[in-house]
Amino acid sequence: MPQLAVRVGRAKPSTIMVIAQKARQLKAAGRDIISFSVGVPNFLPGEHVYAAAREALAHDSGQYGNNRGSEALQDAFLQHIEALGFHGYQRANVAIGIGAKQVLYNLAEALLDEGDEITFAAPYWTTYRDIADIIGARINPLPCGPQHNYKLTPEQLDAALVRKPKVFLFNNPSNPTGMVYTQVEIAALADVLVRHPETWIVTDDIYAAMVFDGIGYHNFVHARPELRDRLIFVDSVSKTYGMPGWRVGFLAGPEVVAKAITTLNSSHITSLPEVVSAAAVAALTGPQDVTRAKCKDFAARRDVVYGALSAIPGVVCPRPQGAFYAFPDISVAFGKRHGGTMIENDVGFCAALLEAKGVACVPGSAFGEPRAMRISYTCPAEQLQPGLQRIAEFFAELA
Ligand SMILES: Cc1ncc(COP(=O)(O)O)c(C=O)c1O
Repeated sequence: MPQLAVRVGRAKPSTIMVIAQKARQLKAAGRDIISFSVGVPNFLPGEHVYAAAREALAHDSGQYGNNRGSEALQDAFLQHIEALGFHGYQRANVAIGIGAKQVLYNLAEALLDEGDEITFAAPYWTTYRDIADIIGARINPLPCGPQHNYKLTPEQLDAALVRKPKVFLFNNPSNPTGMVYTQVEIAALADVLVRHPETWIVTDDIYAAMVFDGIGYHNFVHARPELRDRLIFVDSVSKTYGMPGWRVGFLAGPEVVAKAITTLNSSHITSLPEVVSAAAVAALTGPQDVTRAKCKDFAARRDVVYGALSAIPGVVCPRPQGAFYAFPDISVAFGKRHGGTMIENDVGFCAALLEAKGVACVPGSAFGEPRAMRISYTCPAEQLQPGLQRIAEFFAELA
């Protein structure tokens, strides 16, 4: 039998999806399951988005579209990023993809040759590692533990950039930690970046609309505009507008990069569907009240989650300030027993928690931090307190 390509051997299914699948199986078998596992926003966009999609359907041309995204979509992105403080960008600076995930994959193809180094903070979104593995890039994860609020320091970044990695990938607010960098922290990191001109900077800011406590969203180019020549901003409608299934992502960056992505699109996807594009335009340019209301809701949930986790003896939970995740250090449980089960590590912890209490969380090792687990708190509101209660009970029962 012929062999698969070597690269496929490096591709792994997402650990997050594996846990979610297990939770679904238990649910189907009649168990009462509360899922804190998948990072979906769990709300739907405003009615104007559906109206725009219906209107587009009524006039659908049925044809292929523009590799860069429809002109209306490009303009909608430009309007959106202008509001985020990116000034002076033109159509030639933007490109689209099927979600931010595909934009990031395309960027990896466009910026990294096999053996090139990519560096990013750990904990990291699992897909960063998965994409780099498929591309054959070398990964340099920079450990940012709970004692540092899971944040990268300027010194750490400087030491990493001395190695001249091809790409520095940055995620703010962070999945999985919910951490948000302040304006001062961003400026300090930007000062370091300016000193290392050999490295491309990719900022994955798809949670930019979900920032709490008045911190605001900040990007390196706001602090140091000269970084614009090598910084690529990535965003998507998935989390901001409750549209993960619509699959629209985009980037804004140097013309040469946007052009490269557009060229890759002509081989990979050709274009986005007209109906989907029209819905995304409506989301980006229409009323933003659903997004604002959800951000408030997530901030209130954060308070509940943070309060409950911090009350568990030995659990350390840096206080999230954005997105919809908490990432507590649960290592106090390691080496203890729950019933007859010895908890060896984060994977054992999450498996035992799911089995004993029906609560699904994702082991931190999936994100490069095996002392922790990720809680995604967008479940139906009535499940939040009971789910947290079950986690507290589980800890109380450890011996
Ligand atoms: C940090 C981060 N970047 C990118 C993505 C991908 O988003 P999209 O749905 O636009 O592909 C996700 C999705 O969970 C994410 O958490």
